Amino acid sequence: MTTPDTSRLPLSLPHPAPPPRPYDGPPREEVIALRRQFLSPGLVQYYREPLLIVDGQMQYVWDETGKQYLDGFAGIVTISVGHCHPEIVERVREQVGRLQHTTTIYLHPTIGQLAQKMAAHMPTGSGLDVSYFTNSGSEANEIAILASREHTGNVDVVSLRNSYHGGTQGAMALTAHGNWKFKSSPSHNVKNATPGYCYRCPYGLEYPSCDVRCARDIEELIRYETTGEVACFIGEPIQGVGGVVTPPPEYFQIVYDIVRRHGGLCIADEVQTGFGRTGEHFWGFENWGVTPDLVTMAKGIANGAPLGACVTRPEIAQVMANRVHFNTYGGNPISMTQGLATLEIIDKENLQENARVVGNHLRERLEELKTRHRMVGDVRGKGLMLGVELVLDKTSKTPASAATGEIMELARERGLLLGKSGLYGNVLRIKPPLCITRDDADFMADCLEETLTLVEAQS
Ligand SMILES: Cc1ncc(COP(=O)(O)O)c(C=O)c1O
Repeated sequence: MTTPDTSRLPLSLPHPAPPPRPYDGPPREEVIALRRQFLSPGLVQYYREPLLIVDGQMQYVWDETGKQYLDGFAGIVTISVGHCHPEIVERVREQVGRLQHTTTIYLHPTIGQLAQKMAAHMPTGSGLDVSYFTNSGSEANEIAILASREHTGNVDVVSLRNSYHGGTQGAMALTAHGNWKFKSSPSHNVKNATPGYCYRCPYGLEYPSCDVRCARDIEELIRYETTGEVACFIGEPIQGVGGVVTPPPEYFQIVYDIVRRHGGLCIADEVQTGFGRTGEHFWGFENWGVTPDLVTMAKGIANGAPLGACVTRPEIAQVMANRVHFNTYGGNPISMTQGLATLEIIDKENLQENARVVGNHLRERLEELKTRHRMVGDVRGKGLMLGVELVLDKTSKTPASAATGEIMELARERGLLLGKSGLYGNVLRIKPPLCITRDDADFMADCLEETLTLVEAQS
């Protein structure tokens, strides 16, 4: 067993800095009171004492007291190149001062430039050249499903159990995660297949002797539950909300082949996995050696601006002209400017490579934690999309939901923000801005080492 490295204790942020400016907004109590009285009670909130964030610079954010945090969750995986990246701030400021909105009934130069750049980032020869811009990932998925149904003339859609595809009616229907489904919201014509969740294999099998039964199950599902012809399959290459579930290497090749044999198109939901986050490749699906027919994206696409897109081949995109379809803010000049700047910075600053190198290092450190800590059941993910599944013990694999919340609280005290996910809320999500350094990664691992030690001692 590896000996813990205590040389970095006591913990301190690797790049400490004062807040960029003093906070002069309303006091925290007032912010809380306004939220309680005037905002939807459905808003989810992390932490026992809600966190008020008032400033952000690259991989760091500050609260109203001036306390600095390493943002290990990147505003739920939206901040790809860094909070308030100076080039983005400058270019968006220029655009806001020039023209904020007109809608796509008129021409604007940036929308075509971003679509061209997007096409250039798709695999060579894929024909994935045509973009439909939206304001969110949910809307992008709605477009992908609509286009698939129109194109194939089929209605049934296959999504994966444990998936999350958004909060609009159609996207909620795709989502197969009880926590996120409302009783009153129907899921007509959506069938849920088995994800590649090896740590909790629903068949109790082991990879590779399982022969990837989870992927092959889709054939039975289509035969029994549909007419035998489907409109499409939609899947996240790595399930984010589901707990960073990362299927085995053959998974998507088997699934795509079955779906295509039954007349369906394949959609990769790249809302979390896109834009270099998985390190080795620009798109998550490339890690599995498949090429989808439609790719949906949002979050990291524009470093925090409300922007989503559905990218597909021209002959599939053509069906959107069957009727009139319109999105008022989709393709607006400000989001386009921010999207274009983000994409250019990811390339210019080699952030995909940084995600690979720093992500691999962090993953190694997390794997080490697994050897020392009884609560670390599984370490998953790729690049800077990592998850640590916490369990009460490695034999029973009982989800350590309360301990996960406790670790997040203790990490926050030490200046690290993390996310959590999974059906039982027992998977720590580590998805920082792609610009983090090796020192930041070490800080995260040290912080987890310390907090795990404390929590394990208490339980
Ligand atoms: C994989 C995935 N798809 C779609 C969505 C929905 O995106 P949005 O919240 O922008 O509608 C999310 C949001 O978390 C997501 O993680």
